[in-house]
Amino acid sequence: MTRSGPNSFQQLEKLGEGTYATVFKGRNTQTGELVALKEIALDTEEGTPSTAIREISLMKELHHENILRLHDVIHAESKLMLVFEYMDKDLKRYMDTHGELSAGVIKSFVYQLLQGVSYCHDNRILHRDLKPQNLLVNAQGQLKLGDFGLARAIGIPVNTFSNEVVTLWYRAPDVLLGSRSYSTSIDMWSIGCIAAELWRGRSLFPGSNNEDQLKRIFKVMGTPSERSWPGVSKLPEYRADFPVYVQQELRALVPRVDPLGLDLVGRMLRVIPERRITAKEALRHAWFEDLGV
Ligand SMILES: Nc1ncnc2c1ncn2[C@@H]1O[C@H](COP(=O)(O)OP(=O)(O)O)[C@@H](O)[C@H]1O
Ligand SMILES: [Mg+2]
Repeated sequence: MTRSGPNSFQQLEKLGEGTYATVFKGRNTQTGELVALKEIALDTEEGTPSTAIREISLMKELHHENILRLHDVIHAESKLMLVFEYMDKDLKRYMDTHGELSAGVIKSFVYQLLQGVSYCHDNRILHRDLKPQNLLVNAQGQLKLGDFGLARAIGIPVNTFSNEVVTLWYRAPDVLLGSRSYSTSIDMWSIGCIAAELWRGRSLFPGSNNEDQLKRIFKVMGTPSERSWPGVSKLPEYRADFPVYVQQELRALVPRVDPLGLDLVGRMLRVIPERRITAKEALRHAWFEDLGV
């Protein structure tokens, strides 16, 4: 199934850990190339999850400069090891270490994020968990999408006290309301939250639970009603007694952004999923005209 065995890599320091996986820096002992080794513990009683492994192997076919490259999938005993290209840090850590980001850096990151997501959506892949911790950046200023939720799909939790808690902060209101008709629009909401966070230096909607998350969104975007969003009251988590908020100026939450940039963020953060801008459309938005691409 694979050309290299687990012994082809020298394991270096730990880079991060989530609930289902631990990620180490590694070095290919033959080529000296740096890699990121993502170890996923498997439930041995369930046997080999062959469909999941096949699905992961499909990820090897995703070749795009804004998608973290998966070099190899190594299946050994009770674990799966995914060999990724090495990146300097995730976007969360980048923001923590760089302080206020310049408009140019923000524009470049949002553009690259949209490029990666557009490629995924063209290939009928939803990311579903876009957030700063799942985006990787390198010293050349490149940004790449990582963590396609493959660990969650097949792994067993290894770090129950993981420091990366499952976060709702980037989750679209339709998903929070229990909608199961997921489409590419759920990723667009997350990009809107990430773009706003790049300007703000802190998260846009840091909710503590499902209900609090919805309340924070409605407080800014307005509480949807059957009149503004036909069908919303049929969604499983909809409550007729949601507090009624009127829409606020998004500018108040993202004061640093220029008018065109704010227009784009606003088009991503539409509560009604069908109204959200697509990645393709967003890439053609006037805000990117001066990017020099
Ligand atoms: N290719 C990589 N290069 C550098 N660091 C990485 C790489 N992949 C992951 N990491 C670090 O490890 C963390 C966890 O990786 P991730 O794939 O998101 O796993 P999980 O599914 O457990 O969330 C990331 O947030 C990041 O800090
Ligand atoms: Mg992750």
